[in-house]
Formats: sequence, structure tokens, C-alpha cells
Amino acid sequence: MLITDISQENSGYRYLPTTTLSSPNQVLLPLTAKVNSSDCLEIGGCDLSKLVEQFGSPLYVLDEETLRTACRQYRESFKKYYSGQSQVIYASKAWSCLAVCRVIDSEGLGFDVVSGGELYTTLQAGVDSGRIYFHGNNKSAEELEYAVDCDCTIIVDNWLELKTLSAIAAQSEAKSVRIMLRLTPGIECHTHEYIRTGHLDSKFGFDPNELEEVFNYLTQRSHLNCIGLHAHIGSQIFERQPHQDLAIVLVEWMRKAQEYNLTITELNVGGGLGIRYTEADDPPTIEEWVKAVAKAIESACNQYQLPLPKLIAEPGRSLIGSACVTAYMVGSRKEVPEVRTYISVDGGMSDNPRPITYQSLYRAVVANRMSAPLTEKVTVAGKHCESGDVIIKDALLPSTEPGDVLVVLSTGAYNYSMASNYNRIGRPAAVLVHQGEANLILQREGYQDLLRQDCLPERLINSDDSHS
Ligand code: LLP
Repeated sequence: MLITDISQENSGYRYLPTTTLSSPNQVLLPLTAKVNSSDCLEIGGCDLSKLVEQFGSPLYVLDEETLRTACRQYRESFKKYYSGQSQVIYASKAWSCLAVCRVIDSEGLGFDVVSGGELYTTLQAGVDSGRIYFHGNNKSAEELEYAVDCDCTIIVDNWLELKTLSAIAAQSEAKSVRIMLRLTPGIECHTHEYIRTGHLDSKFGFDPNELEEVFNYLTQRSHLNCIGLHAHIGSQIFERQPHQDLAIVLVEWMRKAQEYNLTITELNVGGGLGIRYTEADDPPTIEEWVKAVAKAIESACNQYQLPLPKLIAEPGRSLIGSACVTAYMVGSRKEVPEVRTYISVDGGMSDNPRPITYQSLYRAVVANRMSAPLTEKVTVAGKHCESGDVIIKDALLPSTEPGDVLVVLSTGAYNYSMASNYNRIGRPAAVLVHQGEANLILQREGYQDLLRQDCLPERLINSDDSHS
């Protein structure tokens, strides 16, 4: 990320991408971000201040071009660096809704789902079940039946699930159920401990020591067709080495399966490539990551003289994280002399729980005054009844006024999907922007939506209201 005009280094311009050829996981603002003649930020050809006037705030603004570019970079990089077949699947937990699924489906990606709800959303978006992979460490029997009925591939996580699925498959009309096995690879990586999954002390996947027992079990279950192996080591990872190590471990397991006459034709290396939330983050590009993983699989397969499997990767954050920003309206201000100045916005931990959950850092710009010099250090707080509801501590911003549009960057992954109604605040609306058009993809939740699931038992309706 370079700054185009040095005189504007000390302004909102500093986060503008300089080229649309960048790797989407390395930009702070979406690839189409520009500043227009009114000094306002535009994304996908839409002026953020105008979007807020039209759709209200907080507002998730998702840039279609950045999302599509990330999909294409993944797909093309696999074509370029891997000689076998490959399939990129979107980890839909990052942001699952109909429009996002449609865009990603149209780019030819598959989908990783982890619940009946994500599976339902993906199917309703029109995705072919042949490209859906169902994850989860505690799928219910109903979820497994649903997955079998719609014929997606099930990534089996543990013994209970394997046995439940075996019973369901034996009764099912389908000839056999396609499964993969998730294993815990025992690979450490440097990321927040809540989002590390590959180390042995993890709730996900079979312990590799159980592998032979599982293979043995599968040889006696013709209604379970084990086509592949899977492992995921964690999220927001900047190193390439752990994924290269994982590739070798997966290929070793694939070889072991041969001893049981199981033919493993697919290896899934999980997701995990990080994105840039602040200048300090330095993830490899999508292309660099794919190259490292693809080459590691190829060389391990050559070493063991195994045919190349279909290689699957399931990124979430690096596909959608940088494609979206959240626009808030600035409200109250509080100066605590010699300590800090707070400015509060009209959202917070309910639309972005990542700072309070993982101490995640973010950057922001004031969208209606992009060239204004950065003269203030302020703490951007949310509107929730919780002191920890801070979106950015010590943000460098121009001086702000109530009504300014503050835009927090890189909010596409795990923001909407982890949003809540804490304090009975409705979830924001989301718009998809593309070539000057903004389309609503998620409606703002209003007061009535907040009551939609509420039930009032008859005896409370009819109860005597008097307190006497
Ligand atoms: N595959 C599996 C099995 C996963 O568990 C995950 C993420 C992914 C793929 C996608 O990983 P990604 O490419 O997005 O790093 N809520 C946390 C992140 C939790 C990640 C959960 N699993 C956050 O906001 O940072």
C-alpha cells in the first residue's frame, strides 16, 4: 500500500489502495475506494455519505468488485500453481447471507457450512449441493439427516458423529454418503488463542492417533464413502510455514489410508490466510499463499509417489474481510482531561464484536472529509452499556463533529456473522455496491424485528396488572 500524494499522507487518503491489481487481503480500503470532488469517500462508485443518508447507519457497505477479485485470485492462483484439480470453497461463517452466497457461487467457488442454518442459506441461494461441505464438531442428528438428504459432502469430526452418520447412511436411500475426515494436525501457529485450531488441545477433529482405528472402521462401512481428509490450523495467519507443514502431514495421512484400501482423492487444507487490519499487518498475498500450499502438496505427493489429490482450500476472511466497511454516524463526545477523548458512534459491539472478543485492531476514516488532516487522537466508542465497547482505541482522526460519517475498515469477515442484538439494538443494514449502484442485501432490523421471536404466555397477558 503506497500513498499516492505525499501531501495527503496525514489524511484519510493514506488508506486508499493504489492499484486495483492488489491482493484484496492486503488493502485497508476496498479496491474501488476513491475520493470524489466533494472530498467524500466512494466505494464501488457510491458516495458513503449519500449511502448513509439513503440507508441509515450503521451500514455495512460491501464492495462486489473486491470480493470477486479475491475469488478470482484464489481460483486463478490454484490453476497457475497446482497441476491437479482444485476447488476453493468459501468459509461462509465469515458472512452468510443470500446475496453474498450468490456472488461467490457465480465465481465458481464452493461453500463450507457449519450448521443447518448456513446449509439452508447456501441452498436457498441456489448453490449446488455437490459444492457444499458440511463442517462442525457437534452436528445434531437432524443436521446430519439434512446434509445426507441434500447430498452435500460431510466433514466428519468425531466418533459420535461417525457412528450417527453411519446409522443414518445405512437407512438412507442414497447408495453411499460422501464424507471427509477432519483431523487435528498438531501444528502451532501464531494467532489469537481463540482462533487457533490446529494444535492438539483443540475441540475440533479426530486425534491423529485415532486415524488407523477410524480407517479400519470405514473399511467395514460401504455406505460411507470417505473421499478426503481435512485440517484447519487457525485464522488470521501471516506465516506460510504452518500451511506448508500441514500439506505434508495431510499427504502422509493420505498414504496411510492406502494401507486400508481407502482411496483418498481430496485434501482440504482449511483456510486461515490473514488480512491487513492495520498498517502493521503484513499477510502474504493470496497468490503467494496458494503457491506455497500447492507446491508443498505437490512435492509431498511426488515424494510418496502418490497421484495428486483434488486440492481444496476454504478461506473466509481473506475473501471477504477487506471488501466491506462499516459506516457509522458520529454522536456524542466526552473529554476526560489528561486521559482521553471519546467519540461515540451509533453502533459498536453488536455489529462488530471482534475488538471486545479478540482485542482486534481497526482503522477508520471520516468519509465526508477525507483530505482533512489528522489532528486528534480519540477513542471511538460504541453505544452499548459496556465500558469495553470500544471499536478503536487511540484512533488518529481529523476533528469530528456530530453527524460526521466515520467509516471503519476491513469489517467484512466475522462482523455481520457475529453480530448480536445486545441492548436490543437491531442489526445494521448491508448494501452491495457495484459501479455506482447500491443494492440492499440485508434489511436493517427495526423494533418489530426485535420482538419477532418474543412470546407472551396467555397467563401473563391476562394477569392482573395491579401491584396491590
Ligand atoms: N475452515 C474451518 C474449518 C474454520 O474453522 C474456519 C474458521 C475457516 C475455514 C475459515 O478461516 P479464515 O480463512 O476465515 O481464517 N470469529 C473469528 C474467526 C473464527 C474462525 C473460525 N473458523 C474472528 O473474528 O477472528
